[in-house]
Amino acid sequence: MFQDYHEFLAEIVVTEEQLKNRIIELGDEINRDYADEELLLVCILRGGVLFLSDLMRELAMPLRVDFMAVASYSIGARQSSGQARITLDLNTDIAGRHVLLVEDIVDSGYTLEAVLNLLKTRKPASLKTCVLLNKAERREVEVPIDYCGFIIPDKFVFGYGLDIDEYYRNLPFIGVVDAEKYQLRH
Ligand code: PRP
Repeated sequence: MFQDYHEFLAEIVVTEEQLKNRIIELGDEINRDYADEELLLVCILRGGVLFLSDLMRELAMPLRVDFMAVASYSIGARQSSGQARITLDLNTDIAGRHVLLVEDIVDSGYTLEAVLNLLKTRKPASLKTCVLLNKAERREVEVPIDYCGFIIPDKFVFGYGLDIDEYYRNLPFIGVVDAEKYQLRH
């Protein structure tokens, strides 16, 4: 059942303004690094879509966009498991292209690892990662993060692409769930 987020929002960890400002900074950095190149942005569905759409508006080079989806095998719906499977692959041949993966969050690292391992086999000219939220404490496998928005604590976060039971992705900030207050209603 959908619940008004005000009832379970414990705190806002990244505000709308902080997101906006940081994404402009990331865009500047990426524009500098790829100044004379064409770029392929690869967004991992679904959480990365808001970040992608705001980030790409800051980018000045010729760019293309494509999408992948990854399913993680898990016991609980909100827990990472250590394995990830590609469920939607790219339409673009990435051989010889500069590829930048765009992700909303890295937790255990397994999703990003699976995608990187697959894409590396396709011989891109370069392969880098741009991650909005890095839950560094939770990492189980080391993955390279070339552009990082924010390092956040190990809390259950939602909003700006991140869901709770598929809702709240549209919120313009990153909030923390008060799990007791959310679960009380279920
Ligand atoms: C989230 C997030 C990353 C992944 C990170 O996706 O968007 O893809 O988990 O976790 P990991 O580092 O432990 O692998 P989720 O499976 O929730 O799908 P969604 O983006 O469609 O919400």
